[in-house]
Amino acid sequence: VQGCDGSILISGAGTERTAPPNTLLRGYEVIDDAKQQIEAVCPGVVSCADILALAARDSVLVTKGLTWSVPTGRRDGRVSRASDASNLPGFTESVDAQKQKFAAKGLNTQDLVTLVGGHTIGTSACQFFSYRLYNFNSTGGPDPSIDATFLPQLQALCPQNGDGSKRVALDTGSVNNFDTSYFSNLRNGRGILESDQKLWTDASTKVFVQRYLGLRGFLGLRFALEFGKSMVKMSNIEVLTGTNGEIRKVCSAFN
Ligand code: HEM
Repeated sequence: VQGCDGSILISGAGTERTAPPNTLLRGYEVIDDAKQQIEAVCPGVVSCADILALAARDSVLVTKGLTWSVPTGRRDGRVSRASDASNLPGFTESVDAQKQKFAAKGLNTQDLVTLVGGHTIGTSACQFFSYRLYNFNSTGGPDPSIDATFLPQLQALCPQNGDGSKRVALDTGSVNNFDTSYFSNLRNGRGILESDQKLWTDASTKVFVQRYLGLRGFLGLRFALEFGKSMVKMSNIEVLTGTNGEIRKVCSAFN
């Protein structure tokens, strides 16, 4: 949370990884495995923070997105506190709150829309959005921003009082493709998270969605290119260099 320093990878009581927004994060074993192989040939040189930034780039490439150059040389953080996760935007949060939290890290509205566009791949557990499907904000009905034909599909995937850990694509119909269909879905009331759908409701974020969709009357902007640029910007936040931090031996533990 403090910056791109691999603090999420630390395991143990009270670490970032144990904070409510992070409990379902997956894939730690992939980073541990890469680190183990690198340490075997070149010990003490490549940080876990760099491995994570490179893996993020590669996950976009394998889902048919564009690649980008990742500046390397980050060092790993020595702090990982669950309480810091309160600085992360939540999935029920207003666009203003999302913008404020991004701005606190030097990321603007375009970066917000672009980076949340990362939801073009991956899945969400039902527990993060099923409240939108049945008794949204105690109205007795669903979130009115959900498309009427999409609602029964989502209700079938996440039945009321069903298994909250069941996973659903964040970008319906194109979960393994790094493309702009996530933005089309927002336009069509087919966003999964409340925070996703709100990007279409708020004028300041909607304009970037419209630009990524190349809608007539809007200055075109290429999502595939901008994503790499915003990722570099995000991955340079509060980076540790020189003698700050350390190069961990194992990504899940401080040295
Ligand atoms: C307002 C900011 C954001 C909120 C509220 C948010 C919220 C969420 C939630 C609730 C999930 C589902 C987690 C689960 O069920 O395990 C999720 C998944 C995901 N998010 Fe975000 N997110 C945000 C920003 C981002 C950004 C900036 C990126 C990347 C640049 C990103 C990439 C992903 C990916 C790839 C997944 C799928 C994970 C998987 O399949 O295991 N998100 N997000």
